Amino acid sequence: VTTQSRSSGTIDVSAIRTRFPSLRNGAAHFDGPGGTQTPDLVARAVYDTLTMPLANRGTITPAERNAEDVVVQARVALGDLLGADPAGIVFGRSMTQLTMDLARTLAKQWGPGDEVIVTRLDHDANVRTWVLAAQTVGARVRFADFDPDTGELDPAQIGRLLSPATRLVAVTAASNLIGTIPDLPTISEMVHAVGARVYVDGVHYTAHAPIDVVASRADFFACSPYKFLGPHCGAVYGRPELLEQLAPDKLLPSTHEVPERFELGTLPYELMAGTTAAIDFLADLVPGTSGFRAGRRERLIASMTALEGHEDRLRARIETELRQFPGVTIYSRAARRTPTLLVTFAGHDSQQIRRFLGERGVNAPAGSFYAYEPSHRLGLGDAGGLRIGLAPYNDDSDVDRLIKTLDEYFDA
Ligand SMILES: Cc1ncc(COP(=O)(O)O)c(C=O)c1O
Repeated sequence: VTTQSRSSGTIDVSAIRTRFPSLRNGAAHFDGPGGTQTPDLVARAVYDTLTMPLANRGTITPAERNAEDVVVQARVALGDLLGADPAGIVFGRSMTQLTMDLARTLAKQWGPGDEVIVTRLDHDANVRTWVLAAQTVGARVRFADFDPDTGELDPAQIGRLLSPATRLVAVTAASNLIGTIPDLPTISEMVHAVGARVYVDGVHYTAHAPIDVVASRADFFACSPYKFLGPHCGAVYGRPELLEQLAPDKLLPSTHEVPERFELGTLPYELMAGTTAAIDFLADLVPGTSGFRAGRRERLIASMTALEGHEDRLRARIETELRQFPGVTIYSRAARRTPTLLVTFAGHDSQQIRRFLGERGVNAPAGSFYAYEPSHRLGLGDAGGLRIGLAPYNDDSDVDRLIKTLDEYFDA
């Protein structure tokens, strides 16, 4: 299966699929938004790191230098993926943990009279983290709403809440429930005009399209490598000059340097090496023309643009086919969105459909996926719906199986 991208370059999905050992069990994976399958190269990077001489970071022994190289390379790789300065890349256990820590750190500079804005479109990791931090210092939290009919988050909904009291706006780069991609540059510009900061949850978005953190004007941008073919860890970019101004809780002997100041304890070297390998893999989704190899940032932009085209085509096909089913509602409607569809079928329990599909090798989970606010705003409560998400290894045969198995469910 070869897909023509909107710009130049194609991704060869058949070739990509051969790199995923887990696909050999034959399942069609529509569960990428919860965590993608892992290419062999990423697993090998983790293995190689754990089996080479390895010590704490340093400059004297090969073991120390190996650890140092892994860290430097992972920061540079994430910098390439996000279009960001590697000096602002902080690694941690997960986006949730990093955001909880940063929220607590930023809140040290707030007090009564200060305000934080969160949105009803966001995953709870970018809502409750800020609510808890604000509560601790007596700051006020305000909620920006999205339109449940269109799925759009109008920047004006944030604009009407902004004031000189605003300290921070936490907003998603894309909804993990319905895929909506808000207009970040416009939102950031409005937020900066009142002197506040923008914290972007890029976890869902990063897996699907090219990113330019500088153009998005985000002050912070969080992501999780396990959503883009990498291992289970988290990373957040913060503008280095901003990070310099912050005082996270830390141990006495640990360094005051940025970004290490924010990285509590010993770093997960093997997961960082796996992250670098995942970014290299993404950069090569569009194979280079023979004889010329562009820099990794350029290759990432070409590959992620091609991936966006591929996933968008499959998403459009799934949507068209889903509309033939009785009582179907597709909640994903925004003009700009990732290939992540939230679906319900009137009179049918999403968990029951999910089980039917899962038992037949079609992995599409049901729930609200920690998108607590959006699921409730859509009237779906904690139950949510069936989520059908795409990843680089999905192809038309996966879609054929999804539709065929849904046919079987409704014929039964
Ligand atoms: C949009 C979004 N934000 C945040 C998270 C939390 O990420 P992590 O598991 O790294 O804490 C997720 C995970 O599902 C997500 O989809």
